[in-house]
Amino acid sequence: MTGAKLIMNFPVTATSHTLADYRARGGYKTIEKVLASMRPEDVTREVTASGLLGHGGAAFPVGRKWAVIKPNDGQPHHLCANADEGEPGTFKDRWILEHAPHLLIESMLITSYAIGCRHSFVYIRGEFDLPYRRLQAAVDEAYEAGLLGQPLAGTDFALDLFVYRGAGSYVCGEASGLLTSIEGKKGYPRNRPPRLTVRGLYQRPTVVNNVETLSNITGIVAHGAEAFKKTGTAKSPGTQLVSISGHVVKPGVYEVEYGYPLPKFIYEDCGGMLGGRKLKALIPGGISTKVLTGEDIAPLTYDHASFDQAGSSLGSGGMIAIADGTCMVRLLQVMLRFYHHESCGQCTPCREGMGWMHRIIDRIVAGQGVPQDIDRLVEISNANDGTTICGMGDAAGYATVGIIAKFRDEFEYFIANKRSKCNGALEVEGTWHA
Ligand SMILES: Cc1cc2nc3c(=O)[nH]c(=O)nc-3n(C[C@H](O)[C@H](O)[C@H](O)COP(=O)(O)O)c2cc1C
Ligand code: SF4
Repeated sequence: MTGAKLIMNFPVTATSHTLADYRARGGYKTIEKVLASMRPEDVTREVTASGLLGHGGAAFPVGRKWAVIKPNDGQPHHLCANADEGEPGTFKDRWILEHAPHLLIESMLITSYAIGCRHSFVYIRGEFDLPYRRLQAAVDEAYEAGLLGQPLAGTDFALDLFVYRGAGSYVCGEASGLLTSIEGKKGYPRNRPPRLTVRGLYQRPTVVNNVETLSNITGIVAHGAEAFKKTGTAKSPGTQLVSISGHVVKPGVYEVEYGYPLPKFIYEDCGGMLGGRKLKALIPGGISTKVLTGEDIAPLTYDHASFDQAGSSLGSGGMIAIADGTCMVRLLQVMLRFYHHESCGQCTPCREGMGWMHRIIDRIVAGQGVPQDIDRLVEISNANDGTTICGMGDAAGYATVGIIAKFRDEFEYFIANKRSKCNGALEVEGTWHA
């Protein structure tokens, strides 16, 4: 991994996933320090003070989520690390699972201590092979070393950690769908309230956090909230692992400090666009975030406030850079095919809306669209907004409305001329193809 500034301070080596390597970097010293000198509520207070925001997409304050759970209320509590990583364009948790699984495990030990959890889970995307093998091997090593499954450092704190493999459903990355799946049922998202921190896995108070979110915990507790806040901006402290794909010269996973200039990231760190092409559009944080144009990014810095102002969001950090020559109508077709396929079918606006939108965009691309189709796509998107059980209905709408708002002329041209304004071209060499 290269990047602007490394806060996880985790250079990759051929053995960085092993216990021996992790211990040589001072690994598992922070959980020792926690058990020796901190009460569970002290840990939560430190994490709250750090201002750490969730990295799974919604940027929810981590300390505020944990604080709902009273660690010593006599009830069983659970922690689930979300390693489903299903958002198209996102592949940063995979980096942690492959190269730093013990950082996640130590962070889960600390988090479990803070929330009074004794049985924790990692829900990992079913398609992940190497990340799963590396994680499971690290968990096995931790059990063998007595770090899991038995009381630690002369205390009565002991944690079990189970790795649960998903079966490839996008909605199982949604926190409540994930819990339903672990319970052995169809991974249907659940209505809220009650919040998962009140009634989650097996009806018990449960924290679900993203893998990257959790992986920040060891560093925050080791060095303190004040040190953490020295990186990033006041409203977005720390860094984000950004996975960038598409038409950039150097795609990959980068650790980017919040507040970093976005054009510098794209044109210097990522080597600019392939073949010197112009940046036409940037999907900033997985396909569920609103698209930006190449011109939009000029004044932006990589942080929540800057992206909010631009009408988009950082999402899950999964960027897709799109070069001139790419047809945005066909791009939306690929996205709507995905959402239609992944809708779990519980909510009428999502189940019917996704199918309807998919059929409309297919019709446009087949040269059979009518001018009213464009506004119909927007209307269906708006009808989904806030009317569904989980965020997928909203997300598909944001993606659609975002692309149409910025590239409406391409939709009008396609319908009027029965062909793409870009000659249907997605031929730019790179990783994004329809
Ligand atoms: C359809 C859908 C899919 C999601 N997929 C993921 C995912 O793969 N990984 C993830 O961490 N969060 C995903 N989320 C967000 C989770 O519901 C939840 O907000 C997150 O895991 C909480 O962790 P955080 O607070 O650390 O960000 C998804 C949400 C939705 C609506
Ligand atoms: S919004 Fe879609 S994916 Fe989410 S619960 Fe409803 S039907 Fe399922």
